[in-house]
Amino acid sequence: MNSKAIAIKEAKTEHPVLDIIKKRWSARSFSPQKISDTDMATLFEAASWAASAGNIQPWMYVYAHKGTKGFDSLFDCLDGGNQIWNKNASVLIASIKRKTADNKKENAWASHDTGMANAQLFLQAVSMEIYPHPMAGFDKEKLAKVLDLDEDHEPVCMISLGYLDEPEQLEEPFRTREITPRTRKPVSEFTKVL
Ligand SMILES: Cc1cc2nc3c(=O)[nH]c(=O)nc-3n(C[C@H](O)[C@H](O)[C@H](O)COP(=O)(O)O)c2cc1C
Repeated sequence: MNSKAIAIKEAKTEHPVLDIIKKRWSARSFSPQKISDTDMATLFEAASWAASAGNIQPWMYVYAHKGTKGFDSLFDCLDGGNQIWNKNASVLIASIKRKTADNKKENAWASHDTGMANAQLFLQAVSMEIYPHPMAGFDKEKLAKVLDLDEDHEPVCMISLGYLDEPEQLEEPFRTREITPRTRKPVSEFTKVL
């Protein structure tokens, strides 16, 4: 457990929001504790109940536990900077979108809806004290090859998961990032009443 980081990272919001939203953050210090496949199924169930255009549900997930060949294959697709702190991740996930609908036409909302599913997975995870960290820092072509994806499927992001550990186990600059408060634009900066 990582009580110091939890206290620092919890969102200090302008307006009242759900506790689970305040508690989610993109952690990097993960403990060796394993995540069970039962819990993984719960996370994907949460993802599956996201809204999606036409209920197409364009998301797909491929995941692997640390200590497996699959994990090493996913890990190899990460950028160097992400590899440093992902050594301790319990699970790596490839979040993938299906680009077309059943009628073979392009689904313009595939990325949006996969992101919606990811957000639900994240909040479910935090409710179970599992911390998700989304990543764009990976080699998309390499990942598509490793996973043998067809033309209709494309990686959206990678996600690491783990239970929290102390920030001190991280090397810099990640240690400092793990205990730096999170900030957001004020709501007034990105909203307007018509
Ligand atoms: C699509 C996406 C890609 C991201 N890529 C990376 C990444 O490659 N490496 C990383 O350390 N964090 C990555 N992040 C995490 C963001 O830096 C983080 O969400 C942002 O700074 C806000 O912090 P918070 O999630 O703790 O609230 C990514 C987040 C998203 C949503």
